[in-house]
Amino acid sequence: MTNVMNERISLAGDKYSGFAIFMHWLIAVLVLAMIPIGIIMGSLDAGPLQDGLYTMHRSFGILVLMLMLVRLGYRLIHGAPPPEPTLNAAQRTVSHIVHMALYALIIAQALIGWAATSAYGAAISFFGLFTVPPILAKDEAISTSLFFTHELLGFTIAGLLVLHIGAALYHFVVRGDGVLQRMVP
Ligand code: HEM
Ligand code: HEM
Repeated sequence: MTNVMNERISLAGDKYSGFAIFMHWLIAVLVLAMIPIGIIMGSLDAGPLQDGLYTMHRSFGILVLMLMLVRLGYRLIHGAPPPEPTLNAAQRTVSHIVHMALYALIIAQALIGWAATSAYGAAISFFGLFTVPPILAKDEAISTSLFFTHELLGFTIAGLLVLHIGAALYHFVVRGDGVLQRMVP
């Protein structure tokens, strides 16, 4: 009886907080833009367009890192609402693993981009406002292997996002449950 009541209450009201929802969508837009910009900028001819995209990618990457650290701190302190009550144990476990992997890999990806660019010897301008200090000494071999890791991790994150967004749409369109609503204001 208590369980049924709890589930009813959960179904009716458990959502992420306004701050968690705001951070989710802000970072989602930034990361969904960072991936194609990262892929396109590498294939362009050298010139002002390529330079501009590099500056945007690095600046937004550092911004994503700062936002993700704030979001992670908030998540560790405030937690998340209990799982949507209609999910079975396997769905709860898989979604939890994908969410935690997204937190970890996006933070790692930004740190690796920062480290790779430092080792390459390029300055990182934060939207032209200030220069972000290097975190590694110049070293071509280290830079090459870090950029390779950055590329692999970029595709891994993109794959996880296909799963994540596909699952959200599946819940909304096919199952018609309350999963998507939890992350909508
Ligand atoms: C159209 C795009 C997207 C949709 C529809 C969507 C939907 C959702 C929903 C419904 C949840 C809550 C799931 C639950 O209650 O168990 C969620 C959580 C989450 N999403 Fe997304 N998402 C999208 C894009 C993204 C992107 C691009 C990222 C990464 C940058 C992302 C990262 C996360 C993370 C890390 C969580 C877990 C939040 C937490 O528990 O603290 N999402 N998303
Ligand atoms: C969450 C944040 C980030 C994401 C999702 C991301 C994603 C990507 C992706 C998908 C690529 C294309 C890889 C390829 O096909 O070669 C790329 C390239 C690149 N990223 Fe990032 N990145 C992020 C943060 C950063 C940061 C913080 C920096 C530096 C401060 C950075 C610097 C670069 C550079 C310089 C390249 C070009 C590498 C090359 O041309 O070989 N990235 N990024």
